[in-house]
Amino acid sequence: MVHNQQAAALDNLFTEQRSFPPPPGFAEQANVTAEAYQRADDDRDAFWAEQANRLDWQTPFSQVLDWSDAPHAKWFADGKLNASVNCVDRHVDAGHGDQVAIHWEGEPGDSRTITYAELKDEVSKAANAFTELGLKAGDRVAIYLPMIPEAIVSMLACARLGLTHSVVFGGFSSEALRSRIADAEAKLVITADGQFRRGKAMPLKRAVDEAVAGDDSPVENVLVVRRTGIDADFGDKDIWWHELVQRQSAEHTPEFFDAEHPLFILYTSGTTGKPKGILHTTGGYLTQVAYTHDAVFDHKAGQDVYWCTADIGWVTGHSYIVYGPLANRATQVVYEGTPNSPHEGRHWEIVDKYKVSIYYTAPTTIRTFMKWGKDIPARYQLDSLRVLGSVGEPINPEAWMWYRENIGRGRCPIVDTWWQTETGGIMISPLPGVTDTKPGSAMRPLPGISAAIVGDDGQPVGNGGGGYLVLDKPWPAMLRTIWGDDERFRDTYWSRFAEQGYYFAGDGAKYDDDGAIWLLGRVDDVMNVSGHRISTTEVESALVSHPSVAEAAVVGATDETTGQGIVAFVILRGEAAAAAKEGDDDAAAAHITELRNHVAKEIGPIAKPRQIMVVAELPKTRSGKIMRRLLRDVAEQRPVGDVTTLADSTVMDQISSGLTSGG
Ligand code: WTA
Repeated sequence: MVHNQQAAALDNLFTEQRSFPPPPGFAEQANVTAEAYQRADDDRDAFWAEQANRLDWQTPFSQVLDWSDAPHAKWFADGKLNASVNCVDRHVDAGHGDQVAIHWEGEPGDSRTITYAELKDEVSKAANAFTELGLKAGDRVAIYLPMIPEAIVSMLACARLGLTHSVVFGGFSSEALRSRIADAEAKLVITADGQFRRGKAMPLKRAVDEAVAGDDSPVENVLVVRRTGIDADFGDKDIWWHELVQRQSAEHTPEFFDAEHPLFILYTSGTTGKPKGILHTTGGYLTQVAYTHDAVFDHKAGQDVYWCTADIGWVTGHSYIVYGPLANRATQVVYEGTPNSPHEGRHWEIVDKYKVSIYYTAPTTIRTFMKWGKDIPARYQLDSLRVLGSVGEPINPEAWMWYRENIGRGRCPIVDTWWQTETGGIMISPLPGVTDTKPGSAMRPLPGISAAIVGDDGQPVGNGGGGYLVLDKPWPAMLRTIWGDDERFRDTYWSRFAEQGYYFAGDGAKYDDDGAIWLLGRVDDVMNVSGHRISTTEVESALVSHPSVAEAAVVGATDETTGQGIVAFVILRGEAAAAAKEGDDDAAAAHITELRNHVAKEIGPIAKPRQIMVVAELPKTRSGKIMRRLLRDVAEQRPVGDVTTLADSTVMDQISSGLTSGG
């Protein structure tokens, strides 16, 4: 089960002896202390009820967890609340209207400061606008926006009305957007004319035009924010945000919804080509993201300046830009652009400008900073920082140490947080005032959370042992189902260890001799590229949808910067196959570029293969299953492993000797 690449990583990890206790002084002021673990273990329901009471409930709940219909959980089911009121109104009502909610930094250098009182007005206006468009609680809204304040306002306005939002990452293609809109049957799409990316204004609405074209689209309206001034064609469905929203009243009286009311759907890659619509509901989700944001980042409302660098198109943006921090009355930085626009010190300039104290990013970003060199952060003060976080993929010890030394200046605890779109909130992580951290380990489940590492038979392994990561007890922010496909929900997560009733996370993991957890990456056909989940099948389907491709196999190969890189092996057909045989290098290179662009068009630029190799055959078992393990060996330029189960054992020789590679 553990791949070669993981085995290599393991050798490296288990020589890791370094351990860093919380800095002196940090532990004394920490929000959570060690006693929380025991308290949560003693009475989980009481512990989670206490966390839920961080929120304002219009109708208090009487029951904490109902697991009688497992694997469908109900948390706080008879309580009623409004997520938007919890993130905005209640802070204003408590006298914090003048506190800054969002320091927004645009990529071209423009900025906006939004207080909680202003955020309340904006969200209320947007809610009134959505109502004017005829939307009602339960309807779905697709949000396809860059990192601008309207993205957050839109999500909160949906929550306020009981509309279920489905945010689609602005880097996804029109095709990806179209299928997500169709699956959720979204009535409204919120987008922008364009977005700034690496200093350039790129069109965005055009992709929406393609995605909603045709009579069968469920979309009734497209609401368009003017961001770049790029030309946008306007049709019958299109309305400018500034025309509709700005003229609305800033008063809006919220309704309250059941704790189990659907809050959002977020699509994520699974092992098949079709993305899964992960469904999250309101009360349990908000409870866990608020609790974990407080506990893991030691967040102090009114004092800290928090910055999570994720995009709201991913779950990290949902939970740790929108719902967790705002429920906790954070003052946060939201940055629109890339870390090197206009220069490679942009993040550190922003940290100094706003005195950021908590910074949360992904290992791939840290490795990019490493590549740019430590001289860049060395030019900045960075003395406001006190907690550093990491999420999205395993962080290698080298990156962890670099982060600690060059960004945290040896002073800031690092929290490596393991979780998933499906878990909704952080599950495994150090507590910054409690845990002695080891570079590269997510350490142990948070108080109130339970996880285990089990073997193929579902039996727990001991210290020093490795296997599959499972979650053996329900948690408040857990996904409730896959939108429109409950059977897939059961199959994907609950069938592997059905007997034990465990949730199968799809990650390999290992305990070290002290019982700390080390995550080892996916055990399925899901790749992790720069912290983004992309399935091999999804990319394969995109490739074979090109007329010149007869067959394709895709693997994730270890990549120094992005964690994994996408490597595709394709068998060509027709003219392209003939041209490849003739050995015209220029034509072959042009064709590979075309295939890479084709994948970008079908899925999005993040899914573009790093490399495409043209082959005559693919290695298959006698039952016809592609042996990706062998392709991974080729992609990582290792000697090819055991080929005895191949139907034709000479195939690997042909592949290794006759490669036409490019990209
Ligand atoms: C991986 C992102 C190791 C893991 C929040 C998981 C991690 C997948 C970590 C979920 C971490 C995330 N250490 N691996 N700290 N965090 N992962 O749904 O493979 O985009 O299953 O959620 O990312 O990715 P997703």
